[in-house]
Amino acid sequence: MNADTPSGIAVTRCADDSRRGDILALVHEAFGGLSPPSGALNETIDDVAARFAAGPVLIVEAGGELIGSVYGAVKEGGLYLTRMAVRPDWQKCGVGRALLKAADGEALTRGLRKLTLRVRINLPANRAYFERAGFTVTGQGQDLGRSPYETMERPLGVPVA
Ligand SMILES: CC(C)(COP(=O)(O)OP(=O)(O)OC[C@H]1O[C@@H](n2cnc3c(N)ncnc32)[C@H](O)[C@@H]1OP(=O)(O)O)[C@@H](O)C(=O)NCCC(=O)NCCS
Repeated sequence: MNADTPSGIAVTRCADDSRRGDILALVHEAFGGLSPPSGALNETIDDVAARFAAGPVLIVEAGGELIGSVYGAVKEGGLYLTRMAVRPDWQKCGVGRALLKAADGEALTRGLRKLTLRVRINLPANRAYFERAGFTVTGQGQDLGRSPYETMERPLGVPVA
């Protein structure tokens, strides 16, 4: 697989509150294709505001359009990533890998040790994707009324394959 960062895209930390609506729409579009449906589809602009308050929000743009995003929050010495989303017409072009590279840099800058995330057990393709990107499974869990998940992490400074 070619996992080079596509040319013409820019990954930045978003500090602009006015992008909240665009990010919410992107997350809904990206997660809309998942089966069983994701709780991400129930999130509102207030949830996006809470993510902005919790930690860095990384976005990817191409030609001024938002094509990718991920929320970060500092947790237990790591940068915990949630709702990583790539616009469907940009998937499998390296945008997700570019977000992971940027998250790695963001975590290093903050003196953290690792990237962490959760994947739903009923989405094995997502687990495989993050394993190929260097994550390993560290545990399992389940919140009340939600699908069971696995926790994953990867050390920092390791090239994203
Ligand atoms: C999961 C998700 C974030 C991945 O983002 P993405 O941009 O599609 O991922 P990438 O392009 O970086 O990598 C996808 C594959 O394309 C390959 N690829 C990367 N650049 C490529 C290129 N230029 N040409 C062809 N293939 C390429 C990668 O090697 C990777 O292969 P792999 O799956 O065998 O590892 C995205 O599919 C998404 O938004 N999914 C819906 C929401 C979701 O499930 N989020 C994660 C929740 S845990």
